[in-house]
Amino acid sequence: MTDGFVALSPLFVAAESPYAAVRQPGVFMGKVITIAQQKGGSGKTTLAVNLAIAYAKRGLRVALLDTDPQGSLGRWFLTRREKLGDPGVDLSTASAWGVSYECEKLRRINDLVIVDTPPKVDADLRPALREADLVLIPVAASHVDLWATDGVMDLAARERARTLVVLNRSKANTRLSQDVADAAAQLGAVAENRLGHRVAYAETLGLGLSVSDGQKSAAQQEVTALADEVAGLLEL
Ligand SMILES: Nc1ncnc2c1ncn2[C@@H]1O[C@H](COP(=O)(O)OP(=O)(O)O)[C@@H](O)[C@H]1O
Ligand SMILES: [Mg+2]
Repeated sequence: MTDGFVALSPLFVAAESPYAAVRQPGVFMGKVITIAQQKGGSGKTTLAVNLAIAYAKRGLRVALLDTDPQGSLGRWFLTRREKLGDPGVDLSTASAWGVSYECEKLRRINDLVIVDTPPKVDADLRPALREADLVLIPVAASHVDLWATDGVMDLAARERARTLVVLNRSKANTRLSQDVADAAAQLGAVAENRLGHRVAYAETLGLGLSVSDGQKSAAQQEVTALADEVAGLLEL
């Protein structure tokens, strides 16, 4: 009897392999990051892909969940699979109403679930915000992008979701980037680490890659720094 109990104990299973614990329903709960921003082209998918691979390369088990019918994350994933065989991360899709169920399932078998969302803020976004341990809001260095964040901020507040603005396409030492950064700080928490405006982000995305797949670069360095910062907030 005692042996049977020990064999079924989650702690016992967890000690055998780092991933064994995640197979015990109700025992392991990975974290969820939702990436949202009303403005298209602000960098949601770029952020999703680059953070996912950065964390996968640290040994975390990462699932991407695409809720954008445009499916650019899916195209990236298929390209990646063709190129590398093993993409290193998992990908699922969900419609707006399926997000909660998918997140619930995925967080039981992954350390981290990253949800990419369409460029709109409406009631459909609520489940993705509700599930999130952290909502990342990319803001490209323009006031138009900044104005577009109000909607997601309001909705996130209503869902009691923690938010973090990530400045994207930032141009070092420009007045505009600094103005946008200052204005963003008035709205809520802003990540200390920014992503610069770099062709590497666009190039790698089209090739099914991330900036962490290649040689060391400024882009890789800033993604690593942002991943560290977010990991600290989420205790990953
Ligand atoms: N920091 C950046 N530097 C250069 N290009 C970027 C950057 N972030 C995003 N892009 C490019 O801008 C386009 C839109 O980005 P994307 O991540 O698809 O935005 P969204 O998912 O918010 O619509 C893509 O071609 C992407 O490669
Ligand atoms: Mg996108």
